[in-house]
Amino acid sequence: MAATVLDGVKISNAIKAEVAAEVATLTVGGLRPGLAVVLVGHNPASEVYVRNKVKSCEQTGIYSEKHTPADTATTEDLLALIADLNHRDEIDGILVQLPLPKQVDSQKVLLAVDPAKDVDGFHPMNVGYLSTQRPGLVACTPAGVMEMLKRCGIATSGAEAVVIGRSDIVGKPMAMLLTNANATVTICHSRTKDLPGVCRRADILVAAIGKAGMVTRDFVKPGAAVIDVGMNRVTDAAEFASFWKGRQGSEKREAEFAAKGSTLMGDVAPEVAEVAGALTPVPGGVGPLTVAMLMSNTVKAMKMRRGNKLATPAGTASSGTASSGTAD
Ligand code: GUN
Repeated sequence: MAATVLDGVKISNAIKAEVAAEVATLTVGGLRPGLAVVLVGHNPASEVYVRNKVKSCEQTGIYSEKHTPADTATTEDLLALIADLNHRDEIDGILVQLPLPKQVDSQKVLLAVDPAKDVDGFHPMNVGYLSTQRPGLVACTPAGVMEMLKRCGIATSGAEAVVIGRSDIVGKPMAMLLTNANATVTICHSRTKDLPGVCRRADILVAAIGKAGMVTRDFVKPGAAVIDVGMNRVTDAAEFASFWKGRQGSEKREAEFAAKGSTLMGDVAPEVAEVAGALTPVPGGVGPLTVAMLMSNTVKAMKMRRGNKLATPAGTASSGTASSGTAD
């Protein structure tokens, strides 16, 4: 039987509606959450991501502003911008879109963001809070995956979870969140021996590798939940055909490739749908949740930092809002 498709767009819209309701209450209370997005240069993928983030702010009522330093910006230029944003009380969240141009010391820039405004959850202070199960800001993509598992009724407690990829942005925080949610977690990477064999142990398999279709059916235990965090542009016709040609239901994808000469796909091969119990699509799976969790994190950052200044008590409308903190 074909895997259940986990609809990230639907879940993202539900989270954003909850955030919007809370933002409305907070705004009535006299405080409007604010997000500053920093986009350096003209990376086309980053421009799309940032456009989606700004649009989601508009949908949820969060104030947003976009800063666009030139691609010649120096580390010092960005440190000065971040210092200014750190000092402005009405800015609750600061997001520096990655990757930064190569002349910039990204680590130095990310470290300069006030941890209380670090809505990406990348600052070592927030990473430490996550690993010690203290309240803090959690990286949006793994937080979105947890929200998806929860809202789709996929139990983590006692589950075998395997995360492929050990990045600071996805793999490591993902493993930490799953551990905090009582899963038994294995992190795999490029040196893992018998990768398919290790992955086949998983009840929950998270692929965050960055290689189109690398996770094939032999990686997947029948019935497992497979979460595809990958987002890869395939332009090679033979590679495209190896994944999609003649597959049932791939007509739209084939038409798209014929028209545009490329397609976006995840790290999971389409054939996995014949083995998995549940599977996130790409696009339309984890991606939309990342943006929803950014909205949720911005509200959370506002409440943690200046919620005590509200005219009415904060949190009365927050019971349904996505929790991006540590799982219980
Ligand atoms: N570039 C790709 N993913 C991300 C993300 O989650 N946050 C930021 N800031 N940049 C990214």
